[in-house]
Amino acid sequence: MSSQAPVDVEVLRSEIEKTYTEVSTSPQSDFIFPTGRAWAQTLGYPEPELGKVPDTSVESFAGVANHWRLGRIDPGQTVLDLGCGAGTDLLIGAQMVGPEGRAVGLDMTVSMLDRARKSAEAMGLENVELHEGLIETLPLADHSVDVVISNGVIDLVPNKDAVFDEIDRVLRPGGRLQIADVVIHTEVSEDARKNIDLWTG
Ligand SMILES: C[S@@+](CC[C@H](N)C(=O)[O-])C[C@H]1O[C@@H](n2cnc3c(N)ncnc32)[C@H](O)[C@@H]1O
Repeated sequence: MSSQAPVDVEVLRSEIEKTYTEVSTSPQSDFIFPTGRAWAQTLGYPEPELGKVPDTSVESFAGVANHWRLGRIDPGQTVLDLGCGAGTDLLIGAQMVGPEGRAVGLDMTVSMLDRARKSAEAMGLENVELHEGLIETLPLADHSVDVVISNGVIDLVPNKDAVFDEIDRVLRPGGRLQIADVVIHTEVSEDARKNIDLWTG
């Protein structure tokens, strides 16, 4: 898709933020997408790592599939979670990379980041870094990341070229992108592209 967005990007971001603020402040509410620990377990999220992530994070898990089926992350590596939300994937990654590694999470919804921070503290993890920001402009140096992970986030961003350019910039040569996301196999009508409600779900 070109950088010419079919929707007002500022309005879209504010709607997305509203939706995911609710996922973090009222995780027991009914959403049009599945959430929480039972969902992560149904997807087959890796144990024992998932079991060690506190409910503070996992009750607001809103991933769409299990990218961990594509591989684990080695001790000592740097993992970056794009749109880390409340931190379920980030904190699983932080356990895999261990104390010599680095787990960096980025999200634009502050209340999600608050949950991730509380959980990292409760787990005593010192290798976790959190950034408030947009995945279209990453606050990281070139070639500084071994594995980029992301779950259910890139589908929410109209300018996907900007996201993939940034991933390409921060990944080390030989680094890996491991994502779970929503893909539509049929042409999306012009009217549907302009419907903000269809972007935010
Ligand atoms: C479906 S949730 C997934 C959260 C997390 N990956 C998980 O699996 O629980 C989408 C997340 O992406 C974040 N997000 C959406 N668009 C973003 C953007 N352009 N930059 C940064 N974060 C974004 C939202 O704030 C929200 O936390």
